[in-house]
Amino acid sequence: MPAVAGTVLVTGGAGFIGSHTVLELLNLNREVVVVDNLVNAAQGVGKPASLERVERLTGKTVTFYSLDVLDKPALAKVFKQHEIATVIHFAALKAVGESVEKPLAYYRNNVNGTIALLDVMEECGCKSLIFSSSATVYGSPQSLPVDESHPTGVAITNPYGRTKFVIEEILKDLCVADKEFSAVLLRYFNPVGAHASGDIGEDPNGPPNNLMPYVSQVAVGRRPKLQVFGGDYDTPDGTGVRDYLHVVDLAKGHLAALPKSAEPGCHIYNLGTGSGFSVLQVIEAFKKASGRDIPYEVVARRAGDVASLYADSSKAERELGWRAELTIDDMCASAWRWQSRNKYGFLCTAGGGRHQWSGLIAATSAGGKRTSVLRRVGMCMGGMGSCAASVCVCVMRAVNMYVEPSEMLRPASVIFCFC
Ligand SMILES: NC(=O)c1ccc[n+]([C@@H]2O[C@H](COP(=O)([O-])OP(=O)(O)OC[C@H]3O[C@@H](n4cnc5c(N)ncnc54)[C@H](O)[C@@H]3O)[C@@H](O)[C@H]2O)c1
Repeated sequence: MPAVAGTVLVTGGAGFIGSHTVLELLNLNREVVVVDNLVNAAQGVGKPASLERVERLTGKTVTFYSLDVLDKPALAKVFKQHEIATVIHFAALKAVGESVEKPLAYYRNNVNGTIALLDVMEECGCKSLIFSSSATVYGSPQSLPVDESHPTGVAITNPYGRTKFVIEEILKDLCVADKEFSAVLLRYFNPVGAHASGDIGEDPNGPPNNLMPYVSQVAVGRRPKLQVFGGDYDTPDGTGVRDYLHVVDLAKGHLAALPKSAEPGCHIYNLGTGSGFSVLQVIEAFKKASGRDIPYEVVARRAGDVASLYADSSKAERELGWRAELTIDDMCASAWRWQSRNKYGFLCTAGGGRHQWSGLIAATSAGGKRTSVLRRVGMCMGGMGSCAASVCVCVMRAVNMYVEPSEMLRPASVIFCFC
């Protein structure tokens, strides 16, 4: 596959899609630098847990900086230390529901974060960006499948989606003003699944916002049942239809976009499979992959959901030579491998082993990593005092047990926590 030369800076590279993309970049022998503030990624021993596993899987090293893209001086140092040819910009907050409650946090992080990154890129002469956009910019689709000429910014139902739309507009304006700048806007449909190894995957903080991680947490026994929002849509079985895309295919889409990111101008591509699956079809496929029952109940529609949304990705195939290869069965099988091997995610891997928990203790007591570890553990323990919570997690991991946040309220757990 052709690719522009030089180091790739990946913002948000410790997250779900970022870590899979970093793995594919390393497999292509690319130099990769990751910046991430770990707001939604687990700290490992020295690096984020996802990147430690990526290094193990590839046998290669990633340079990592724990920083916020809003911190322009720190970001500029990274650009000065490495010759960055291209930036792949994943760093963002992405929970739709939370964005409704905290719009300012979303605009500040996603929009201001992107502007800060673009300022630093300008200062350091880097003119190539691949941006994680989303099918949410299409709002309620006027026709299906949706291609890139479909209007955007109309009837977007939440602030998260609007941050993606605003950033797209900023990038389009920048490409008009700076004739040397290249922006590739990749509009993802519904990324799911995990790396075939089952060692990296999606590790949501708290209850998952998306269907597949929710289904897999029900299958593994972390949640009692799934709620299906709406059974009366105008779809074959009445449940919502979406274009699910394997995260490994999506990661490869970024590699395919690299040559485009060397061509000035704004280039826009849908990344999806072109096929829609209903919620009930996903549940069936997951049952088959996992061999587990998935109890569910159909409840009222959720505000802002559309009946069907799937992509026309033929432009990406024509111009980037990319098309999704993996099927819904591959998506479910890999998601299940990840979930069943890592019941509680990266930090709380079932049967977790000394390496991880002693690493957690080490990282907790190491000044530089302290904040992110404690923040993560603090969230994990549902807002307990962060110090007590981190000690608690270490102790529980030492005996290979994990306590869900709700269980923290049980007296036995609390006593155990402080003993
Ligand atoms: N997962 C999806 O369904 C989906 C769909 C469409 C678009 N996207 C977009 O793709 C990108 C990656 O999504 P993901 O699913 O991997 O999410 P993720 O939360 O797993 O990864 C995002 C990473 O960015 C980091 N981050 C957030 N704000 C930051 C900041 N200010 N500075 C530095 N790091 C920061 C987080 O710690 C996290 O590691 C996001 O931009 C998201 O909006 C995701």
